[in-house]
Amino acid sequence: MAVMSQRVAGFGTSIFADINALAAKHGAVNLGQGAPDFDGPPEVLAAAVTAVNSALNQYAPGIGMASVRQAIAQHAQRFYSQQLNPDTDVLVTSGATEAMFAAILGLTDPGDEVIVFEPVYDTYVPNLIMAGVAPRYVPLRGDDWSFDADELAKAFNSRTKAIVINTPHNPTGKVFSRDELRTIAELCQKHNVVAITDEVYEHILYDDTSHVRLATLPGMAERTLTISSLGKTFSVTGWKIGWAMGPAALVYAVNQAHQFITYAVASPLQAAAAAALNMPFAFFENLQTTYQARRDRMLEVLRRAGFKVFKPQGSYFIMIDWRGVAPSKVQGDMQFARWLIEEIGVACIPASPFYQQADKHLGRYFARFAVCKKDETLNAAAERFARLVRT
Ligand SMILES: Cc1ncc(COP(=O)(O)O)c(C=O)c1O
Repeated sequence: MAVMSQRVAGFGTSIFADINALAAKHGAVNLGQGAPDFDGPPEVLAAAVTAVNSALNQYAPGIGMASVRQAIAQHAQRFYSQQLNPDTDVLVTSGATEAMFAAILGLTDPGDEVIVFEPVYDTYVPNLIMAGVAPRYVPLRGDDWSFDADELAKAFNSRTKAIVINTPHNPTGKVFSRDELRTIAELCQKHNVVAITDEVYEHILYDDTSHVRLATLPGMAERTLTISSLGKTFSVTGWKIGWAMGPAALVYAVNQAHQFITYAVASPLQAAAAAALNMPFAFFENLQTTYQARRDRMLEVLRRAGFKVFKPQGSYFIMIDWRGVAPSKVQGDMQFARWLIEEIGVACIPASPFYQQADKHLGRYFARFAVCKKDETLNAAAERFARLVRT
């Protein structure tokens, strides 16, 4: 009996599960999946415990608890001078993941097209397929992962409903520049298209890079849905607290889907999210300093091992080109990831799963390392990579 719906029949298993299993089997240092191996700030953890012990254990309002919606709006004002009404312009979701799926279901119809940049974070395209929407891919290329403006312009047509922009970007570490975002903004306005941004790495930035919020560019406030979440900034990826923000009409449409997906999100964790978002500037500065040290260290380790590294401007990932490092029997990024686990003892994520079938070749020489790890983990990885350093 064929039990699987056609909607999901084409989905393989996630590369993260495969790599985690292989890494565990070989005792590899796991720089694959993008989850910190350290805990979140003690005051945020304590706020969750307090909430559990304060009888905050029943359903929250579907759109989110007032305190967290208020904190999300204040955070947007504090960092981006963005004005949001916490009662109408903010929706709390089960992570950025649910926000994105609810946004696609609430804002598109079967037969529409949505533009995504490639390499593409792995949930967007399955979300589009489940919604009956066709993805249109625009590749990011070259050392700075830039897009060709003409290629992007050609991807827009009368069926285009939305464009998804992930900045800072997973897996490349690219942060879209103001000029690039202006190009996207002009096309969105010309074609009357909604922009959906995924900004979960908004606070993990390197050197002097600033994160520009597309919703704050001229003409974009009314057509941008901004998505972010708690997991990366506060090192609590397991909490799955996220949000969607933007004009009331867009947020209302997203909530029309959200109310029948999860209805409401974990109450005590929402209370803790409010505490987290209200943390002083020093917290956010310290986050950047510690990530900068991790990134710089791993850039050096990977360079010394002989890889070509793509210096990330944001996010907690480093992409590398492995050509010339792995022996010639290694053909393609999947084999590279397996070789690195089995022979060197370090796990990474191959890049081709971030590309559609027809474009997999674009990712075949790339792999992604996550640097959101304790010093001990990075030290252990550095020791293993030292085997690759030619003396
Ligand atoms: C670009 C991007 N968006 C969304 C998520 C998931 O966010 P959340 O855990 O809040 O659902 C991730 C996690 O890796 C991510 O890298």
